[in-house]
Amino acid sequence: KQYRIAVIPGDGIGKEVMPEGLRVLEAAAKKHGVSLHFDHFDFSSWDYYEKHGQMMPDDWKDKIGKHDAIYFGAVGWPAKIPDHVSLWGSLIKFRREFDQYVNLRPVRLMPGVPSPLAGRKPGDIDFWVVRENTEGEYSSVGGRMFPDTDREFVTQQTVMTRTGVDRILKFAFELAQSRPKKHLTSATKSNGISITMPYWDERVEAMAKKFPGVKWDKYHIDILTANFVLHPDWFDVVVGSNLFGDILSDLGPACTGTIGIAPSGNINPEGDFPSVFEPVHGSAPDIAGQGIANPIGAIWSGAMMLEHFGEKEAGQSIVEAIERTLAERTLRTKDLGGNADTTACGKAVADMVD
Ligand code: NAI
Ligand code: MG
Repeated sequence: KQYRIAVIPGDGIGKEVMPEGLRVLEAAAKKHGVSLHFDHFDFSSWDYYEKHGQMMPDDWKDKIGKHDAIYFGAVGWPAKIPDHVSLWGSLIKFRREFDQYVNLRPVRLMPGVPSPLAGRKPGDIDFWVVRENTEGEYSSVGGRMFPDTDREFVTQQTVMTRTGVDRILKFAFELAQSRPKKHLTSATKSNGISITMPYWDERVEAMAKKFPGVKWDKYHIDILTANFVLHPDWFDVVVGSNLFGDILSDLGPACTGTIGIAPSGNINPEGDFPSVFEPVHGSAPDIAGQGIANPIGAIWSGAMMLEHFGEKEAGQSIVEAIERTLAERTLRTKDLGGNADTTACGKAVADMVD
């Protein structure tokens, strides 16, 4: 099978790191006999907006909706265009229209990356954060009454649907089952949030019955965040609602180092729509154009894309090549104390792929 990938570099360092991601994907594809086809798109960027007055063409869905995945750089150029226009005009549309209900991020301590957690070394921290990406606390149900008076009254509802909760839990349990430790942790707060969170717990218990091989536990979100810092070695797959997952998916990668290397996936697991794989970082206007951006976040996102396709060996070969590259100071970029530029770092990873 040939995988068709829509490539969207976007703005700023997105345009600098994506060629390195593609270089590494091509190297891994060649080594592992995977066939990749790339279609390049210039929309979802300030350059496109300047010419066309909108972030994307009207028929954007026809252009990229049939691809197997979208490989994305970064969008946003605040000096020229407000973030809510650029992000809502592109990335957020993908998430919603393509029903990307899983946000997935690895938390893995890599060689050569100083962990803010004392005494941890590569191998100690290696887990995934699975965030529900479409409902939960981020609903638009609610309102404000009597504005600017003493009776001012503001409310916002959490929405949990059985379909929405079950599908994220199923994804997380399947991921746990595929891993050696087969361990799932659920983020909850059913001691304080007395309707939706007990429901979440109930659905976790029901789903767990379908995965007898997976050990599972749950923590309230407050102590769970503490344990991310104190005992990151306890975790294997951690699943949370939209808000809790949002917090954990920033905290986890922060425990393992720098924004320059963190990857992410916004995934529609059924494959009814393409999933988006992108580095966690943005367009970094402060360093754009200098050729010094760390390409590892983009490269690692490419590895996640291959694993999403089921090409585990090819994906894993990239993760291992990243580890070997980061272990050498001279191959690292400036943000990690090295002196390699973006291209040199990308080439080093591509050469290490086997
Ligand atoms: P940012 O992630 O672009 O930059 C934050 C800081 O980290 C900067 O000092 C930057 O130089 C550094 N940095 C980021 N990536 C790096 C890399 N690969 N190598 C070395 N250093 C790196 O976040 P910021 O500055 O808040 O946002 C800039 C623009 O990007 C905004 O328009 C924002 O909305 C957008 N953005 C887009 C995202 C996306 O496309 N998914 C995600 C986050 C921000
Ligand atoms: Mg966040």
